[in-house]
Order: sequence, then structure tokens, then C-alpha cells
Amino acid sequence: MDINFIGHAAFELTDGGSSVLIDPFITGNPLARINADDLNPGVILLTHGHGDHYGDIVAIAKRTGATVVSIVEIATELEGEGVENVVGANLGGTVAFPGGSVKLVPAWHTSTTPKGTVSTPAGMIIEFAGKTIYHLGDTCLFGDLELIGRRHAIDIALVPIGGHFTMDRHDAVEAVRMIGARQVIPCHYNTFPPIKADPEAFKADVETSTASEVIVLAPGERHTT
Ligand code: NI
Ligand code: MN
Repeated sequence: MDINFIGHAAFELTDGGSSVLIDPFITGNPLARINADDLNPGVILLTHGHGDHYGDIVAIAKRTGATVVSIVEIATELEGEGVENVVGANLGGTVAFPGGSVKLVPAWHTSTTPKGTVSTPAGMIIEFAGKTIYHLGDTCLFGDLELIGRRHAIDIALVPIGGHFTMDRHDAVEAVRMIGARQVIPCHYNTFPPIKADPEAFKADVETSTASEVIVLAPGERHTT
């Protein structure tokens, strides 16, 4: 499986045939090196409604017919926008899609879409191509990360480190210890001035204090696992 770091919190998972797109903020994302029109996902996952995650989701879903999975309130909004294949779920729920599944888990944050729909944010545990990937969404450090890590054997965690709107790189080290992921890819940093962070310092701190390996990806870069 390839993990393509599009930039910010946007990732694409591919296994040759199918692809899963997460939090597709591409237009207006200063880190993105591609256009939204270049992506052809079969599935789009949305952690919460903020514009830096919601991004191009309506345009991509309408163009590709991809199945979109989100929390129920946002799913209802997307249906109203004319997106055809939307599955609304809630925390604790698992949604199967061709080639995998996604489970919604808590994230401590807020969530309002650009149109104003208020809902609960989520993290996402994704089973795809034989791997378990945990996209934490936007969250602060919280105790139930340990429970999530106990419940799931995480191969790769996608962890925000930018601070200001999410956990910072120091809290993220503790989050990684609690989750116990085999590999960690930092995200949600250096997109805008308030979320400036040093991913190499995060990597050094994680690798000296936990058993996890940190892979720092530049936007547009892929990691194969
Ligand atoms: Ni957010
Ligand atoms: Mn965000």
C-alpha cells in the first residue's frame, strides 16, 4: 500500500487498484502539489467539517461518484449538496467499503462545515490493503487514545503536531506512546503560520522515548508499506 501525503491533513491510500482519500483540502492548500481534478478516489473519508478538511469534497465526490463516509450531520449536508453516495455514521460505528472499512472514534475538537453544519468531530480507524491506519483527525491529547491503542493494532498513525488548533508536537509524543503505532506520519503542521512545527524534532523525541518509527513526508511524497 502507498500512502500519499497530499499536505496538511489530506492523504490518499492506494493499493494499485482502489484508492481512499482522506480530508481532501486541496484547492487553497498552500502545501498541495496537485489539483483536486487529478484525484480519482473510490472512497472519501471526512474526519470533520472544518474547511481545511472538507476542502474539495463536494466537487471530487460529484465528479468521481466516490462513496463518502462522514459523521451523520455532515452526511446529510453532503446529500443536500447533491453528493450521491454518502454514508453517515457515528462514533463507534464501522462502515465497510469495497476493499476495506472505517471506524469512527472520538477526537476532542470542534466541527462546523463552511456552510454552518455543526457536528461532532471524529478520528478514523481505517482497514485497507491489510493494514490498520489511524487518522487522528484534529484532536488534542486525551486519555482515551490509550483505549483506542489497546483496542486496535495500529500499523500507521497519522498524527497532527502543529498545535494551536490541535495537539502540539510535544503532546503528540505522548499520544504516540498511548496509541503504540508501528509507524507514525506527522501532519497538520506548517500549512499556516500558527501551526509551525519541526517534524524532525518530533521524530527525534518519539524515537528516543517510544518504540514507534516516525516517517516525515514532504507534501506530495509517498510512503510504501
Ligand atoms: Ni479542525
Ligand atoms: Mn484542521
